[in-house]
Amino acid sequence: MIKIKAVCIIGSQRNNGNTALVVDKIIEGMEKAGIAVNRYVLGYLNINYCEDCNYCQSMKRCKQYDDMNAIYEDIDESDIILVASPTYLGDITGHLKVFFDRCRPYLNDKIAMRGGKCGISVAIESNNLKNSHAIDTIEYFYKQLGIMPIEKFTMKSIHLDDNRQEELERAYEIGYNVKEAINKSLLTSRIVEA
Ligand SMILES: Cc1cc2nc3c(=O)[nH]c(=O)nc-3n(C[C@H](O)[C@H](O)[C@H](O)COP(=O)(O)O)c2cc1C
Repeated sequence: MIKIKAVCIIGSQRNNGNTALVVDKIIEGMEKAGIAVNRYVLGYLNINYCEDCNYCQSMKRCKQYDDMNAIYEDIDESDIILVASPTYLGDITGHLKVFFDRCRPYLNDKIAMRGGKCGISVAIESNNLKNSHAIDTIEYFYKQLGIMPIEKFTMKSIHLDDNRQEELERAYEIGYNVKEAINKSLLTSRIVEA
């Protein structure tokens, strides 16, 4: 049986912050459901800015060599892409924007995405003002790359003795039930196309 693979991109500085906490719950659910997961925290990686050199336009890959190379390989091999961000000034973090820009090789090679990669979006914010664009920005990225969004999750950051067990359970369920979410989205997109 072919194993489903997921790559999880945490656009935070912190490996033990709120964003990582939520993503790790989703990962726990995915792994319980038999999905193989690779996880990256962008704040711990060396990822250069896109140089707009246009090399990827013809060569279909980036000419730079840094920590993006391992992520490109995982994106190529994964069925599920999970992108998570803390909200910074109402939107995604700078780290995540740099990562998105470095995905430019895929903009000209949507064939790489053929076979139907699915996307999960996660955003964390401190004040729950409901004015964050972070989910929209992540879903715009999915649209540009031809990735089908299947789930989204938002949560207010956890302070001291907050009890957020219910929300974290919901995150676990998203991971555990991801295969059903993929099937449901594929069915819906076929119905829309027909
Ligand atoms: C530069 C900066 C800007 C922020 N802007 C917002 C914001 O606009 N809205 C919000 O709700 N929280 C904002 N926050 C708070 C973070 O979203 C919050 O602390 C989040 O939990 C950080 O995620 P992490 O724990 O994974 O690092 C901001 C934090 C920083 C450092």
